[in-house]
Amino acid sequence: MNQFIEEQSHAIKSLVGECPVLLLISGGVDSTVAGVLLLKILNSDQVHLMYMDTGLMRKNETAVVRSILEKLGGKNVHTIMCEDEFLSALKGITEPEEKRKIIGNMFITIQEREIIRLGLPESYFLAQGSIRADFIESGQDAAKKNVIKSHHNVASPLVDAKRKAGKIIEPLASLYKDDVRRLGRFLGIDEAIVGRHPFPGPGLAVRIPGEVTKEKCDILREADAIYIEELKNRRTASGKTLYDEIWQAFAVLLPIKSVGIADDGGRKYGWVLALRAITSADGMTASVYPFETRDLLEISSRITSSVKEIGRITYDISGKPPATIEWE
Ligand code: XMP
Repeated sequence: MNQFIEEQSHAIKSLVGECPVLLLISGGVDSTVAGVLLLKILNSDQVHLMYMDTGLMRKNETAVVRSILEKLGGKNVHTIMCEDEFLSALKGITEPEEKRKIIGNMFITIQEREIIRLGLPESYFLAQGSIRADFIESGQDAAKKNVIKSHHNVASPLVDAKRKAGKIIEPLASLYKDDVRRLGRFLGIDEAIVGRHPFPGPGLAVRIPGEVTKEKCDILREADAIYIEELKNRRTASGKTLYDEIWQAFAVLLPIKSVGIADDGGRKYGWVLALRAITSADGMTASVYPFETRDLLEISSRITSSVKEIGRITYDISGKPPATIEWE
């Protein structure tokens, strides 16, 4: 770890000199670790941390990210609230790759606008928390020609232009998730942050197959928060929490309503929710987490009794491959 940090320090310092560096923060493990690393290596006045609340975030995400950024010791922290812009751009769009492209482009549009507003000079460097798996899954790896999903942080007009100009910094590009976590711990980042499950750049949009609306995001946020809270409160026989035992868990709001029984005994149509939980080493392949049946039943029952719009819950039992971890 010391050697890795020293090498990165030498490479980044000699590349950027006194230029400002803008790091996009998602609140996830990767960008947080990249942020701490940059703040350790560079002068904190020179590091700008930008976080966008896209409206596609998990429950309380923005408050959590703000407190993380404060703890990071960042001096130039820019939080941008842009839910309306993202949701309007996604109105009526149902095709998964189109949704991803729209979200990726919106990130760039807002980012470019904010860079001008901040008055950053042309010479600024763009830093990202991209890791090895992002490149492979986006088809940038020589061994893999087919793009399964386009990750906007790997290829976009702004990123491409910055890459061509030699103005991109991706200190974690050679690392897999577990290495990033190890580095995070080495840098002294809270276990609660380092141990967070991965969250995709396009956020809840890829967990709402079909059209994304604010109403659906709100329902999903509530259900997902209950699911995750339950996983943090339940333990395996060895004493580990289910959350720590599982590599990634989340809820998916399906574009289906099914028949159920309302409180007054009449018929109601409720949304169908899928729960996903997988074990994995790096996200490249994944196995379904074999829950104890009792855990699944209790968690499902708590969700349907707390989130009235949800009428039915299923558990996703497909590994990767053939499925991917996210539904879109
Ligand atoms: P999939 O669904 O491709 O996901 O099996 C593999 C891992 O990558 C995450 N993921 C993303 N991460 N930008 C990201 O930063 C993205 O566009 C993106 N899409 C998927 C996913 O949550 C899983 O951990």
